[in-house]
Amino acid sequence: MNKGIVFNLNFEEWRQIRKNLDQTLMSYRFQKENIVMIQKLFGEMTEYWRDLGENAPVDLSIWINRLFSDYIFLTATGMSCHFLTQEFNNQCSGAQKLSVQQEAIEFSTSITKQSQTHREAIQFFILAPEFVWRFALRGITNKYLENRVKFYQQLDSIIEKRLEQIANGNILKYDALDLMIQTEIDHQNTLGTESKLPNRSINVANIREALVTVINGSIETVPMRITSFTAMNNRSNTHADKIGNLVWKSGTQFIINSAAICHDPKLWHDPEKFNPERFLLNPSAKDTFFVFGLGPRTCPGKHIAIANIKVLVALLYRKYSLELLDKDLPIKQKFVLINNCKGAKVILQKI
Ligand code: HEM
Repeated sequence: MNKGIVFNLNFEEWRQIRKNLDQTLMSYRFQKENIVMIQKLFGEMTEYWRDLGENAPVDLSIWINRLFSDYIFLTATGMSCHFLTQEFNNQCSGAQKLSVQQEAIEFSTSITKQSQTHREAIQFFILAPEFVWRFALRGITNKYLENRVKFYQQLDSIIEKRLEQIANGNILKYDALDLMIQTEIDHQNTLGTESKLPNRSINVANIREALVTVINGSIETVPMRITSFTAMNNRSNTHADKIGNLVWKSGTQFIINSAAICHDPKLWHDPEKFNPERFLLNPSAKDTFFVFGLGPRTCPGKHIAIANIKVLVALLYRKYSLELLDKDLPIKQKFVLINNCKGAKVILQKI
């Protein structure tokens, strides 16, 4: 478990990877490139909608997921996977289909599957007691471990290919991968290793761990407040603590039941109701709404995520008026570590 960022309880290790990732995600150039990319992908998506017929119902949960998948692979790896084009091809008839390189299809299919299985695996290892994954469900454990090997190999080969290109004079860009490489070089230099590419001291595992979270953490569409994004937030104390009369040994795991807090009728009036105005009428409700977590381990992608959502909503409402196809249907969702929206059909009317 003590690897990467999200579930890493080794404070020193977590701190280094987190510092590098923060530096990447907070960089001005990265944030600017992001907005431009979302705008471009939005333009591409609306062209497909036009070609599929302006009044045809559109499942936003699928399209926005494809848009963010394209976005995340472009920002994380600089590679284009054409998820939007593939979705267009799924929905249109033969003659209209666009050609997509077979290589891109194979890459996007395999890495998406690996990333989804990786998330299922994390959930399994958190929830199942040790004897279950060691003995009772050994087959499932092996499947998840084999998937992790393949997923990591795929990401390592992307990183190593890029390191080689940079060593051969290719200029660094402003996607997450290049920025993480730059941060890692800077880090090695501060340690006195004087990293000049393709120096072996570049820590590919550090870059990969950050990449895993960027890919895993940002690929799904999330229904935010109505269902909380995560069911729980985990914390562990590095030092022994005394709170009231209770003593907590160092290394104790604490689970914050965020889903319960998000639906607590003592904190929220009509907690199940979709009512964005609640924040205007009761600004203090914000304190109990921690969709991105709280404290030093709060989500480092928060600013990018908020900016992307704002841009996307503005682009969408500037061009269309939206109406849910079936207003009485409850939100369809699936929980694998996070709550994902699975189905939100709308009719788009061009303004
Ligand atoms: C709507 C979008 C997103 C939501 C709602 C969200 C929410 C969260 C939440 C609740 C946590 C746990 C925080 C805690 O325990 O206090 C988290 C952690 C994290 N998120 Fe996000 N996130 C989003 C997008 C992103 C994006 C776009 C990225 C990266 C580009 C990202 C990267 C991470 C990472 C690396 C962590 C682990 C932080 C740590 O343990 O130090 N997230 N996120």
